[in-house]
Amino acid sequence: MNDKTRYEIMKNRELLKGYHAEDASAEETDQQQKLPSIPCLQVKKEINTVKLPTDYESLPAAGNIIELISRRESRRNYADAPLSLLELSFLLWSTQGIRRFAGHKNPVTFRNVPSAGSRHTFETFLFVNRVEGLEKAIYHYLPEEHELELWDDSSDFDEELTNALCSQRFAASAPVLFVWASIPYRMEWRYGLKAAKYVLIDAGHVCENLYLACESIGCGTCAIGAYDQDRMDDLLGFMPGPSSDKGYICTVYAAPVGKKIT
Ligand SMILES: Cc1cc2nc3c(=O)[nH]c(=O)nc-3n(C[C@H](O)[C@H](O)[C@H](O)COP(=O)(O)O)c2cc1C
Repeated sequence: MNDKTRYEIMKNRELLKGYHAEDASAEETDQQQKLPSIPCLQVKKEINTVKLPTDYESLPAAGNIIELISRRESRRNYADAPLSLLELSFLLWSTQGIRRFAGHKNPVTFRNVPSAGSRHTFETFLFVNRVEGLEKAIYHYLPEEHELELWDDSSDFDEELTNALCSQRFAASAPVLFVWASIPYRMEWRYGLKAAKYVLIDAGHVCENLYLACESIGCGTCAIGAYDQDRMDDLLGFMPGPSSDKGYICTVYAAPVGKKIT
């Protein structure tokens, strides 16, 4: 290992600790300096949205939590059958659904997954191939309204998406691909340099809920960490980094979903 690699490894390990060692001289966080936060939710850009159904009780949910945990595994083969809109709605609710709001000056959301300081930095994007009632396109989840807005109506993303997923074609061709992007400033406002650690821990909660929710309705998923950062961010129309802008957004994690092959 050369010196440069050794130094980079050391820096990344510090990130695991929330930059503990280098933090001593860090300035106060923006919250400590009493600066305003940014909104805890993105403003919708579309007027025409797809309302998501919420009668989850009508889904044939199978198994108790012990069974679901025991059965959970990464699944990379999916049936050709499309997902129903109700199934997709249930998975979105399980991973990012909002239960309530708190706070007046700097509101935060409480959701079905935990988040450090309830900062919830993620925006969910969907590459939809086969979901009943949805055209093939890229969508953005609006958790407050529990709706989908069209993010990009282009349906010829197959090749670019496969490339962005480092040739993992099973993920690009799944009925739907969840992509979670983070707006890190939501976390940095409170936690400064420690924010990156918390964002990454939070991502794990989201994806684990997806695994268990999928398992409960006869679907399968597989966490995807191997993707091309620039290509995926570009596909979603994000400004390329690095950046310290408050509105900066970047992909952090993904997961394809499809019905299990029985
Ligand atoms: C952070 C993370 C990144 C992963 N990235 C990929 C990936 O890019 N492609 C893939 O096929 N599996 C990926 N996986 C799935 C792992 O390979 C899988 O969890 C592991 O082999 C254990 O299998 P299990 O999930 O069935 O227990 C990832 C898992 C995690 C937690």
